[in-house]
Amino acid sequence: MIERPRRLRQNPVVREMVAETRLHPRDLVLPVFVAEGLDAPRPISSMPGVSQHSLASLRTVAEQARDAGLGGLMLFGVPQHKDAVGSGATDPGGILNVGLGVVRETVGDDLLVMADTCLDEFTDHGHCGVLDDRGRVDNDLTNEIYAAMAVAQARAGAHVVAPSGMMDGQVGEIRTALDGAGLTDTVVLAYAAKYASAFYGPFREAVQSSLEGDRRTYQQDPANRLEALREIDLDVQQGADLVMVKPALAYLDIVAAAAARVPVPVAAYQVSGEYAMVRAAAERGWIDGDAAAMESVLCIRRAGASVVLTYFALELAERLSGLR
Ligand code: PBG
Repeated sequence: MIERPRRLRQNPVVREMVAETRLHPRDLVLPVFVAEGLDAPRPISSMPGVSQHSLASLRTVAEQARDAGLGGLMLFGVPQHKDAVGSGATDPGGILNVGLGVVRETVGDDLLVMADTCLDEFTDHGHCGVLDDRGRVDNDLTNEIYAAMAVAQARAGAHVVAPSGMMDGQVGEIRTALDGAGLTDTVVLAYAAKYASAFYGPFREAVQSSLEGDRRTYQQDPANRLEALREIDLDVQQGADLVMVKPALAYLDIVAAAAARVPVPVAAYQVSGEYAMVRAAAERGWIDGDAAAMESVLCIRRAGASVVLTYFALELAERLSGLR
């Protein structure tokens, strides 16, 4: 026999040497929830190991993330009061903006402080945008609020703003507003291909979402691939510095297509439902949760993502850097 591929699998050293994909803590971003009015972390039952944070516990997570060498933290805010236009999103005293300030003060430039730029946590109807008089999401008015929100987030301390509402033109409007405010260094990470997915279930508990109905008029149909490529192209044209695909595991074809197509780095978001499935099966002893977490994130990288947002980020980074 001439071809013996097993020769390159015979021990850990040779396997590591020829590995085509590696995971590094800097590739990983941890999504974090900061809730207004908490004085201790509040566990999220559908996401074992994940909590809503108080400002004090947020600071601790930021320190752990910095010490583990993570790429960044993606912050989501859970306000106490919501209204029709999501006022808490643009208010410098709103919980997300205050949280961004706390994290930035804690980590400086040692990891990237990222902000979810979307209204769904702040609106009483739970949609990602404001509604018109017929109850439909008003795309262009929403973009004006996103632009103000992005500027407020950058001023609060975000290195990166991440529009996730899937409004048409959101990236361009945000870029123009940031530049107009002199915030030319602020990075835009665009949720370019975001699908209307059942895998977001646990997230809705995490942010105490008020949504009734669904987001199918703005998030994409899981049936579509060409539509994702169009969305990704549009975001790059509008100045996105990175483009994201979300969810990750069921959409690896989209991750791979994006990576082959655009000249910017691609990120992928392993969402709450993906996390919960691994955790739930592991709790029952049905799979090895640690191994499954590492494998799934590695495979998302192999598909073409430079950056992976995952609720496993901190534990994976600690394992990769020998801290646990
Ligand atoms: C919307 C948003 C969602 C997630 C992050 N930002 C989804 C949604 O409610 O449609 C989902 C993240 C996850 O499931 O982990 N701003």
